[in-house]
Amino acid sequence: MKRLWILLLGACLLAVTSAVLAFEAATAEKSGQTAAAKEEEPKFIRTPDVIYVPTPYEVVEKMLEVAQVKKGDVVYDLGCGDGRIVVTAAKKYGVRAVGFDIDPERIKEARENVRKNGVEDLVRIEQKDIFTLDLSEATVVTLYLLPQLNVKLIPQLEKLKPGSRIVSHDFDMDGVIPDKVIHFKPKGQREHTIYLWTTPLKKEKN
Ligand SMILES: C[S@@+](CC[C@H](N)C(=O)[O-])C[C@H]1O[C@@H](n2cnc3c(N)ncnc32)[C@H](O)[C@@H]1O
Repeated sequence: MKRLWILLLGACLLAVTSAVLAFEAATAEKSGQTAAAKEEEPKFIRTPDVIYVPTPYEVVEKMLEVAQVKKGDVVYDLGCGDGRIVVTAAKKYGVRAVGFDIDPERIKEARENVRKNGVEDLVRIEQKDIFTLDLSEATVVTLYLLPQLNVKLIPQLEKLKPGSRIVSHDFDMDGVIPDKVIHFKPKGQREHTIYLWTTPLKKEKN
């Protein structure tokens, strides 16, 4: 009889503990506080491959227009700076977007920008070296790097789903034929060039 009571008590304790744990997990999930969703404190990783120069907002808008961003797209900005491209994509098109940068200062600025614009539900900012990324989730990739860095990204870009769009501000991708090259001069500014490629990439024949 005593054994039965001990067994019953054990079962009750187990049930209560499971219920408490399930409740805590559900609450954490609801407020976006799961371990995976927590924003990691940015730290020094290594010197960036290119310095920070922001794309003017008029050019950001044009890049997203050239990429024909539409509902359901997932926009990745590789080297996101202050996050203006991903924030604009979320605000203007309501799409999910992820900005990656290696510089801790940029990560802080970009996260602040996301909060200021109230797009936390759509935009994530991650501190990552862009050359370590799996891009398979993205349908639109934006770049403002350097020509040799664009070329270095080709093996990763080739893994994008067919029909994905890549837009680059000012710099081409040697060996890959663009679908469009647009020259754009916002009022009172210099001329900017926007390159568009669509996957599968069209390689130049040697
Ligand atoms: C020219 S800025 C472009 C910023 C933003 N995409 C825009 O167009 O406004 C390039 C950014 O790439 C970042 N960057 C450079 N090398 C990187 C790397 N290996 N991984 C991630 N970010 C990098 C820099 O910190 C910088 O913020």
